[in-house]
Amino acid sequence: MKKFFFTLLSLYTLSYAADKGAYLVQKYNCLSCHDFSQKRTGPSFAEIAKKYGTSERAVERVARIIINPPSFMPPFKIPFSQAKKIAQYILKEGAKAAKEKKKHTDDEYIDLWSEFH
Ligand code: HEC
Repeated sequence: MKKFFFTLLSLYTLSYAADKGAYLVQKYNCLSCHDFSQKRTGPSFAEIAKKYGTSERAVERVARIIINPPSFMPPFKIPFSQAKKIAQYILKEGAKAAKEKKKHTDDEYIDLWSEFH
């Protein structure tokens, strides 16, 4: 019985940690300048994921960028642990968005192909 509650508790903590990146991206309004798949004021998360990858090292690099960003983005004075959660989330979702986009382009190509044959 104890084991059951322990499993439940760790499942809860895990899903909470995964959600936290999404929550922080909302909280800090990243989406007012960034989109998952399209360029807006800033580059898309898909582009960012393509540029940095999704490794642990990439997460740390992007976390540092969020705290101390390039010229045209306001800096976020937040704890490194939070920045890492955000970085993890945008790289993962960005990589997914990039894959989706590629699939769409392939579909469009096939459509065009069948129109002309
Ligand atoms: C006011 C608009 C704005 C907001 C808000 C904003 N960004 Fe940005 N961001 C930008 C712009 C513009 C750039 C490109 C800066 C440059 O190239 O000089 C950028 C660049 C970045 C980069 C670097 C991309 C690269 O190629 O190196 C990352 C990572 C990033 N933003 C993540 C975030 C995250 C995460 C948040 C929320 C915590 C956020 N941004 C909030 C405008 C914004």
